[in-house]
This record gives sequence, structure tokens and C-alpha cells, in this order.
Amino acid sequence: MNNNISLVIGEDDLQRRVRELGAEISRDYADRNPILVAVLKGSFVFLADLARAITVPVNIDFMAITRYGAGTRGGVVRIEKDLDLAITGREVLFVEDIVDTGLTLAYLVRSLQAREPAGLAVCTLLDRRVRRLANLPIRYTGFEVPDRFLVGYGLDSRENYRHLPFLGALPEEPKPAKQS
Ligand code: IMP
Ligand code: MG
Repeated sequence: MNNNISLVIGEDDLQRRVRELGAEISRDYADRNPILVAVLKGSFVFLADLARAITVPVNIDFMAITRYGAGTRGGVVRIEKDLDLAITGREVLFVEDIVDTGLTLAYLVRSLQAREPAGLAVCTLLDRRVRRLANLPIRYTGFEVPDRFLVGYGLDSRENYRHLPFLGALPEEPKPAKQS
């Protein structure tokens, strides 16, 4: 099943960088009790590792969305599962797996800003800047990645490969299909 996948970022490099991000976030958010907000499902592995690398108290919450119109990338976003926690007056750290066009993030950030958090910053494991359409400030970035479709460490291709402990690239981008 993994025969076609070429290694892009290995497990050790991922773990080392996530620990660095956790240390940085712990310094920046000391005494601020942030809510880590992640979008299902792609961010679940990154969030799990990042949360354990953070040494200050945090809360954790999830959203689930559906994207339309552009297959696995960009398009129109609908919130399928909203946050359980109230974020008004709270520090929010939005945790993403990958920012590609930035359209998803732009939509979600706008939606969360409307609830008037005390602050809202973005932490993404991967940044594919060459495809950016919507520009937003990203406070923490794990790695910049090239324009290849990536799987593993939470990222999927039609729901496969999420469990891989490393990041790999498929030979070609899969045909559009509904995803989350
Ligand atoms: P954007 O709105 O184009 O920035 O879409 C970002 C979302 O698309 C990510 O949160 C992922 O869920 C998905 N995505 C973008 N690129 C990839 C990839 O290379 N592999 C898997 N999912 C991806
Ligand atoms: Mg995502």
C-alpha cells in the first residue's frame, strides 16, 4: 500500500520540529490558558503531538467542516460540527495540518473572529505558500512544503494514509472527492 509513496519529512524530523513548536508556544502562552482549536480530521495527529509538547495549561476543541467545489482543496466551507467551548474573551490558537490556498483558514478565522476572542493566532504544521490565494498571518509554521500532494501524519488521500508516522508524497494528486 505504501509502495508509491516517497518520503518527504521523516518521523524524527516531524517529532523534533513539533517539540520546538511546543516549546515556543509554551513560552508565548505562559499564563494565558489558550484554547487549541483543530479542524477534523487532518490535524488530529499534529494536535495530539503538539498538545503533549506544550507545558502550559490549555484547553482543546474541534470543529468539523465540509468543503465544496474544489475537491480536496479550497472551495466553499460549511461548518458541520462547531466548537463545544465558548471562545469569547479567550486566547485561541488555531492548529492546522496544512495551509494551501488559505481559503479554508480565511473562512474559519473570520468565523471565529466574529465571536470576539481575546486573541487568535494560527499554528500550521505545513505551509504550501506557492499556492496561496488568501493571505493571513501565520504565527507558527512547522515546515514549508513544495507543491506535491502529501499524505501521512494525519493527512489523507480519500481517507487513506492518515496513520503513517511520516509525511510522504503520492505520485499524483487524486481526483476530486468529498472530504473533510
Ligand atoms: P486550503 O483551503 O486550500 O488552504 O486547504 C487546506 C486543506 O486542504 C488542509 O487543511 C487539508 O485538509 C487539505 N489539503 C491541502 N493540501 C493537502 C495535501 O497535500 N494532502 C492532504 N490534504 C491537503
Ligand atoms: Mg485541514
